[in-house]
Amino acid sequence: MHEAKPKVNRVFMTRRVPDAAFPILQNAGAVVTVGQSDEEKGIEKAAIIDAVKQTDVLFSLLTEPIDRDVLSANPRLLGVANYAVGFNNIDVDTATALGIPVSNTPGVLTETTADLTWALILAAARRIPEAHNYMVAGKYKLWGPNLLIGGDVGTGASGRRKVLGIIGYGRIGRAVAFRAMGFDMDVLAYDPHNHPQIEEDSKHPVLRVRRASLDELLAQSDFVSLHPLLTPETRHMISDAQLAAMKPTAYLINVARGPVVDEKALVRALQSNTIAGAALDVFEDEPLMAPGLAECENAVLVPHIASASRDTRDTMATMAATNAVAHLQRQRAPNVVNPAVYDTDAYRARMALASEPSMAGAHG
Ligand code: DGY
Repeated sequence: MHEAKPKVNRVFMTRRVPDAAFPILQNAGAVVTVGQSDEEKGIEKAAIIDAVKQTDVLFSLLTEPIDRDVLSANPRLLGVANYAVGFNNIDVDTATALGIPVSNTPGVLTETTADLTWALILAAARRIPEAHNYMVAGKYKLWGPNLLIGGDVGTGASGRRKVLGIIGYGRIGRAVAFRAMGFDMDVLAYDPHNHPQIEEDSKHPVLRVRRASLDELLAQSDFVSLHPLLTPETRHMISDAQLAAMKPTAYLINVARGPVVDEKALVRALQSNTIAGAALDVFEDEPLMAPGLAECENAVLVPHIASASRDTRDTMATMAATNAVAHLQRQRAPNVVNPAVYDTDAYRARMALASEPSMAGAHG
């Protein structure tokens, strides 16, 4: 004879996020299970699927593909809270079709990510990692007029304003544009979705931004900074032809998602000095790098740390936890990326099933 089990609100967190998330989840009565607490270890897909079968809400990181197999593992799953603004690791179309709300952490990492973009712009142009390595290797014997010559970011001695090309003019692209005014730059913006903010900002009293075609932006820019979402349209949007269209003195910066750049093409461009340099926070097949990239002296490479300030990572944790609680309580999540899901029969059916008392031995 089966007996109804008391309802427990369960959250499965694939990998441990900062502590700030936990009081929010626990105050909402959630029992949290962490799949992997060792920061340097990942979690197998099979383990995620097993855990999803036994949970109400999935709290995921960008390192885990949340695909159809995961999403369809539990017909009572109430939502997925992703600890990232990007959600290309989640098959959102399938989630929507299955009636599962998906949430992310927009806004809170904008400034921190724009800061790192600028750190990379300056590091690439002024060859900071090379200079650091030169010093610590004990190579600095005598100052010389040609030692570690780089490119200007500001107007330099010539007084020429440099051009920053921003591809993807969302929150982060715009925050990068604001910082460019401190370097007296002109900004060209191209957005794959024709973001109307570009026109508004072209009238802004402080910003010097104007919309450009991708071809114009590539041809004119001294720095090309990538900030689009990763979608089928933006995958490899920078490949051989686009790199060849850039100035040989220009630099490419990517803090968006690795596959936006054809990394093998970039290695060819760096090796042949088709462009002056690149700075990458993200990689096509993370954490791996394309063959030859690590040996390119004109590449600055950092391990996906654009949002890595204590304040921002903690705030991402509280935001993702707040979203997870909303999923758990069957409320509209504050940062849902597929809001149309709430109007679907699939969502209503899922919520109805999740409300049914389940039997001992069954999920619930
Ligand atoms: C994101 O949130 O999408 C970043 O890549 C990591 O913070």
